[in-house]
Amino acid sequence: MNPSYEIPEEERPATGRRRETYPELLERLSHQSVLKHFDAYADVPWDDPECRIDPDDPRWELSDEDGLGATAWYRSQPAGVRSRIGLHHYATLMKIGVQFESVLKRGLLEFAAKLPNRAPEFRYAYHEITEEAQHSLMFQEFVNRTGFDIPGLGWWERMGARRVISHGRRFPVLFFVFVLGGEDPIDHVQRTALRSGQPIHPLLKRIMQIHVTEEARHLCFARQYLRQHVGRLNAVQRTLLAVGAPVILSQMAKLMMQPSRQIIRTYGIPAAVVAEAYTRNPKHRAATLEALRKVRTLCQELGLVTPRSARLWRALGIWDGPLPAAQPA
Ligand SMILES: [Fe+2]
Ligand SMILES: [Fe+2]
Repeated sequence: MNPSYEIPEEERPATGRRRETYPELLERLSHQSVLKHFDAYADVPWDDPECRIDPDDPRWELSDEDGLGATAWYRSQPAGVRSRIGLHHYATLMKIGVQFESVLKRGLLEFAAKLPNRAPEFRYAYHEITEEAQHSLMFQEFVNRTGFDIPGLGWWERMGARRVISHGRRFPVLFFVFVLGGEDPIDHVQRTALRSGQPIHPLLKRIMQIHVTEEARHLCFARQYLRQHVGRLNAVQRTLLAVGAPVILSQMAKLMMQPSRQIIRTYGIPAAVVAEAYTRNPKHRAATLEALRKVRTLCQELGLVTPRSARLWRALGIWDGPLPAAQPA
């Protein structure tokens, strides 16, 4: 451990302290989990009349900022279809959240199982697992109340998920890149929505508020864990991480960029509209790259994006702009 490690400006505690060691950070985050945590049923007013889910509620409609929401096809649909597609879309995102958090929790259990007694990461990891369990309860309850029967992960994704979980024990740095690849983009999307001033259904708003509050801790831990441990990898591990990071992140981006097959089938969305909204939409691609920007910047900061590995990032479609100049591997 590097006890004099300095936490970057934007992640420093609000107490105004200039320096915080890695063990102090873990202690603070764990303590925050005691002071500020949420329960999926006690803290979400599910049965409040204003939180009732009505598929005809126009607040479910996709905005012009959404790839599909901006198409002429979507805007020409009757109001009830537009709001149902929007609700179906949110339910799909929540289900993806449940699946991602399932992998995350199992990987964290593997990570914690390998820790020695008195490791401060153990307590922190268990707080995070507890919080993720509450998030998944919240997301699944939302899915159930929409009435949509959203499918689970496909076979290939399930196989990949098993490998990611094993990294929690065997190669935690790569596991935490996966964690950031899932948590950073959804956090970005939720914060943008909450700031947008658009009318948001109160149930969705409450779920997002709870989620961004707790995710701030999870993101902070994953970033600091990487900053703390990447420097101590040997050359082989470093190369594995430099190659593994873009591969994992591109898979996550693909999951995010792809439209839901169930939604396309259910509402008969024409192939040309799907291309316009997602696969051949530069705005959608830019938004996806933007959602991955923070984790990509962190990989650069950690020296994981070498001129050679940057070519891999570009080949995988998650790099825009010029390739970086030579820097230490
Ligand atoms: Fe979560
Ligand atoms: Fe999280």
